[in-house]
Amino acid sequence: MIAPSEFARRRLELMRMAGPDAALVVAAAPRRMRNADAAWPYRQDSDFHYLTGFPEPDAVLALLPGRGKGEVVLFCRERDPERERIDGARVGPEHAVARYGMDDAFPVEDIDDILPGMLEGRARLYCHFGRENEFDAQLLRWLRRLRAARGGGVVPREFVALGHLLHELRLYKSPAELALMRRAAKIAADAQRAAVQAARPGAAEYEVEAALLHAMRAHGAVPSYPPTVAGGANACVLHYTDNRARLARGDLLLIDAGAEMECYASDITRTWPVGGKFSREQRALYEVTLEAQYAAIEEVRAGCPFTAAHDAATRVIVRGLCALKLLSGGARAALKSGDHLRFFPHKTGHWIGLDVHDVGDYRVDDEPRLLEPGMVVTVEPGIYIPPDDVSVPSKWRGVGIRIEDDVAVDAHGNEVLTATLPKDVGEVEAIAAA
Ligand code: GLY
Ligand code: MN
Ligand code: MN
Repeated sequence: MIAPSEFARRRLELMRMAGPDAALVVAAAPRRMRNADAAWPYRQDSDFHYLTGFPEPDAVLALLPGRGKGEVVLFCRERDPERERIDGARVGPEHAVARYGMDDAFPVEDIDDILPGMLEGRARLYCHFGRENEFDAQLLRWLRRLRAARGGGVVPREFVALGHLLHELRLYKSPAELALMRRAAKIAADAQRAAVQAARPGAAEYEVEAALLHAMRAHGAVPSYPPTVAGGANACVLHYTDNRARLARGDLLLIDAGAEMECYASDITRTWPVGGKFSREQRALYEVTLEAQYAAIEEVRAGCPFTAAHDAATRVIVRGLCALKLLSGGARAALKSGDHLRFFPHKTGHWIGLDVHDVGDYRVDDEPRLLEPGMVVTVEPGIYIPPDDVSVPSKWRGVGIRIEDDVAVDAHGNEVLTATLPKDVGEVEAIAAA
């Protein structure tokens, strides 16, 4: 759990970064409709969650730095017994102050009358622009109100994209965030282990998905993205989520499934032999992928550029594919020409945190960012031989393999948050055969 004092620390730090003459405004995620009056499951906006922990839509946070510790104001829905009988309980402005550490809270219905005055005379306004049409329109409305105020209000001189400050903060995970990410990782690892037991020859991919979802929900987690459960050549489709085909003995099964715990994500991929035994070709490709992943994880250390993991994985995969004669002309030539991109078409990782593909710049001053303690990345090399690639002998075709872990940089090197889920050949075969 993230303590109220940590949310307060984040707000203070953001206000300090923005300066005493700024104002910052962040909106909650809107409720999104699936169709008619059926809504998608509600997920709070990650930035809004990071700064408040407040779980409802129709809310706006205003941070008003000042000489002292500044002022933190929340606009949120009022209590409404009739609506609450339909949609569930609301916090309401009165409780928001004490429960969420606000200095003040007002009904969101009154925001147009109250917020423009709070922006008056501020030099800079930090917001997200161009994300939500409704928020953009609201923002312009507030500025118009301010300008039309009696005597003409002073509109902020500068409008600044909030992400540059806020996402820099989110990039460095605190001990409490890492604890949640460890939990999300453990739940996803256990879920995948349970799911493999459902992966009998003849079973449908959705039966495996059902086992994943059961294990996640049984621990109060939700999937952090739609799971990929891909048997055979389906694994060559990188974001396959149909999950409708039947598994055949001798196929590989690629499962890419993360859990989300209190809004923090995990993201794990393993590739299992259906029936419990790799074929010679599958095993050869699996071993290259695994070696690439270990080599990449070695590069996840403080001081290493973000790109070092991908470069290491690429070198191992290119060397391996050349040794297996799937690439011709030698490793150096293949690397130079980019021929390996036919079989390894994606990058080796991304930041992970509140979002699966988390925020934070990958480059600083036009150079790859150097890793620092508190940053968390995925390491996920893969090899995919398309089923219709006639440039390789047929025995290799239609095999897709990815191995993905979540790795936190620490003072000593790194911590593989998803390490409880085995990936070495013998263990993978044993689990798949059980
Ligand atoms: N599960 C999405 C990804 O691996 O990036
Ligand atoms: Mn993944
Ligand atoms: Mn990933």
